Amino acid sequence: MQTTLLSATDTVTQASKTFSPSENFILRARLKNLSQYQALYHQSIENPEAFWAAEANELHWFKPWKHTLDDSKKPFFSWFTEGKTNLSYNCLDRHLNTQTRNKAAIIFEGEPGDERVLTYHDLHREVCRFANVLLGLGLEKGDTVAIYMPMVPELAIALLACARIGVIHSVIFGGFSSEAIRDRVLDARSKCVITMDGGYRRGKFLPLKEIVDAGVAPCPCVKHVLVLKRHRDTVGRDCPMTPGRDVWYHEATARVTTHRPAVEMDAEDMLFLLYTSGSTGKPKGIMHTTGGYMTHAYATTKYTFDMQAEDVFWCTADIGWVTGHSYVVYGPLLNGATVFMYEGAPDWPNHGRYWQLIEKYGVTIFYTAPTAIRAFMKWGDEWPAQSNLTSLRLLGSVGEPINPEAWLWYNKNIGFERCPIVDTWWQTETGGIMITPVPGCIPTKPGSATLPFFGIDAAVLDEEGNPSDHGLLAIRKPWPGMLRGIYGDTERYVRTYWSKWGGKYYFAGDGAIRDQDGYFWITGRVDDVVNVSGHRIGTAELEAVFIENHAVAESAVIGASHELKGQTLIAFVILKSISAGIDENWLRNDLNRMIETKIGKFARPEAIVFVPDLPKTRSGKIMRRLLRDIAEHRELGNVTTLADPAVVEAIRERFARLKTSTSA
Ligand code: PRX
Repeated sequence: MQTTLLSATDTVTQASKTFSPSENFILRARLKNLSQYQALYHQSIENPEAFWAAEANELHWFKPWKHTLDDSKKPFFSWFTEGKTNLSYNCLDRHLNTQTRNKAAIIFEGEPGDERVLTYHDLHREVCRFANVLLGLGLEKGDTVAIYMPMVPELAIALLACARIGVIHSVIFGGFSSEAIRDRVLDARSKCVITMDGGYRRGKFLPLKEIVDAGVAPCPCVKHVLVLKRHRDTVGRDCPMTPGRDVWYHEATARVTTHRPAVEMDAEDMLFLLYTSGSTGKPKGIMHTTGGYMTHAYATTKYTFDMQAEDVFWCTADIGWVTGHSYVVYGPLLNGATVFMYEGAPDWPNHGRYWQLIEKYGVTIFYTAPTAIRAFMKWGDEWPAQSNLTSLRLLGSVGEPINPEAWLWYNKNIGFERCPIVDTWWQTETGGIMITPVPGCIPTKPGSATLPFFGIDAAVLDEEGNPSDHGLLAIRKPWPGMLRGIYGDTERYVRTYWSKWGGKYYFAGDGAIRDQDGYFWITGRVDDVVNVSGHRIGTAELEAVFIENHAVAESAVIGASHELKGQTLIAFVILKSISAGIDENWLRNDLNRMIETKIGKFARPEAIVFVPDLPKTRSGKIMRRLLRDIAEHRELGNVTTLADPAVVEAIRERFARLKTSTSA
C-alpha cells in the first residue's frame, strides 16, 4: 500500500468532497443542523463571556466568580475571577448523588488482558485514598509533583488526587528518558515523583522505576518517590527502593482512610504543568489553571463528542500528552461519561487488538491520531473486518493534519460511512479543542478541521494581521482553557505567543488556509517544531544534544514528510576537522544513543547525514527550507541568497548516498 501525504494546499485546491452527518447520528445528536451551530456560534462570538459563563454554571462552584474574564493585564488573562471550585470534586463528588454514582467511570484493559471496572463511587474512593497518601508524604496545596507512569487507571487517579488537594501535577510521558525527567523535575521543582514498577508494552514488562531513579538522583528538590505496583500480587519483580525517600503505595495506602474533602481552589490556582517543545532547546512548562481549563474541557467534550449517558468513550492518547489530560481524564469525567482505557500497543498480540477491544467493550466514540490510522491502513482492511464495530457512532482525529486518504479509509473501514469524523485542531497551550466539526451540524471535508468551536474566534491572518485565505492561524479573543504562561519564563510566553501581531492576537505557530466556506485547513507548524507521529519535538532540542558530542561542529535538524509518521526528523551534521576518518556508522549510533538517553527513543532521527557544510545565507542563517527540499526530493527553491550555492549539491549527494546505503 502506498499512502500519499498530500499537503493541505494540494487538498484544498482539489474539489474536495463534503460529507454530511448520517440521519442515524442526527437522530440522537445534541445539536442537529448547521443553522443551529451557526446561531450558537454567532451568539458565542458576540459575547464569549456569556457562552463560557453558561457552561461554567453547569459545574459546581463553592463560591461564584466575580468577573467571567479579566483582560486588564493582557496577555495575562484571568477567567472566573475569585470563583472557588475543584476539578476533582466536579469529576467525582458532583456525580455521587445522581444515577452516575454506580456507573462505570473507567473501564480498563491491560495489555496482558487483565480487566478492571471502576464506578464513579469506586473512583472517588480511590482518589480520596491517593490524596491522603500524598498528604501523608507532606505535600501541600501549591506543591508540584511529577508523574511518570504507564496507561493504567492509577495514572488518572493520581491526577485527580493532586487536583483534589491543590497539588500541581506535571505528567512526564513514559517514553522520556532519565535526563528528560531530570530537566522537567528540576524546572518545576517537583517535590515528589509518582511512578510504577513498570508497565506492559508489546508483551514485555518495561521497568520504569530505574529510569526515574537515574532521573531524580541529581534533583535535591525530590523528597519522595511514590511507587505503585503494576500487579500487587506479583512476586520476584521488585524494583530498587531508596530507604527514606521511596515509598510503596500499597504500604502507604494501608494506613489511610477513603475520606478526603476536595479543597476549595481559586479559579486561577495552578492545576497542572505540562512540558512541550518549542523552537529552542529547552522545553516549555505550559501552565494551566483550574476554573477556565475545567470549563473548556467540559464544554468541548460535551459538544465535540456529543457525549451521551450511554457512551463508552475511547481516546487512545497517552495521559502523558495534553490529549490524555483533557480527553481521557478531565473532560469525560466532568461529563459523567464512561472512559475506556487500554495500556498497550495496537499491534499486540496482533494487528486487530484495537478492533477486538471496541467489540468487547462496546466502544461508541473512538478518538485517535492520523499516524495510528495510517498504520491501520498499512496493516490491512482484514483486521477491522474481523471485529464487529457496529457499536461505534462517532470517530475523532487529533494531533496532526490528517491526509484525505487516511480520512477516507477511516470513514469507510471503521465508521462504515455512518459515523461522523471530528478532526480536532488544538494544542497543549490551548488546553482543549479549538477548531472542529460539531458532529450532527457541520458537514466535513476530508483533511479539514472545519470551523471553530463555540466562543473561539479563530482566523487566518497574514504577517500584518489582516485576514487572508492562506497564512497563519490566530486566535483573536481569549478563551478559558488558554495557557496562563510558561513556568518560570514570562518573557518567553509573551514573545512566543503574543509578539507576532503586537500583542493583539494569540499566535499558534501553525500555518492555515481558509476556503470559500470558511473551513480551516491546517498546513502544519511554521516554527522549528516537528510533529512526528503526533509527538511534538523541537529540532533545536536535537541540535543541542548533537553539539555535546565532541566530534560535532554544527548541525541542523529538519522535519520532512513521512508516509506513516506524518513527519520525520532528518539531521544534517557537520563534523569537526579532528573527526576526519571517523567511522560514520559508529558515530551515527553514538549520536542516536545520545538522543535516546537525553530525550527518549521516540525522538531518534530517521537519518543522520554527515555533510561538509550547511546552506547558509551571507549573514550565516541556515536555510532550512533548502534542507527540507533535499529531504523531500523536491526541486530546490531560490538559492541566490546562499553564501555558497555549491553546498546544496554536496548535501544532496550525501543524502542520496546515505539513502542508497540504508536501503541496500
Ligand atoms: O501543529 C498542530 C498539530 O499539533 C500541534 C500541537 O501539538 P501538541 O501541543 O502536542 O498537542 C497535540 C494534541 C492536541 C499543533 O500546533 N495539530 C494538532 N491537532 C491537529 C494538528 N494539526 C492539524 N490538524 C489537527 N487536527
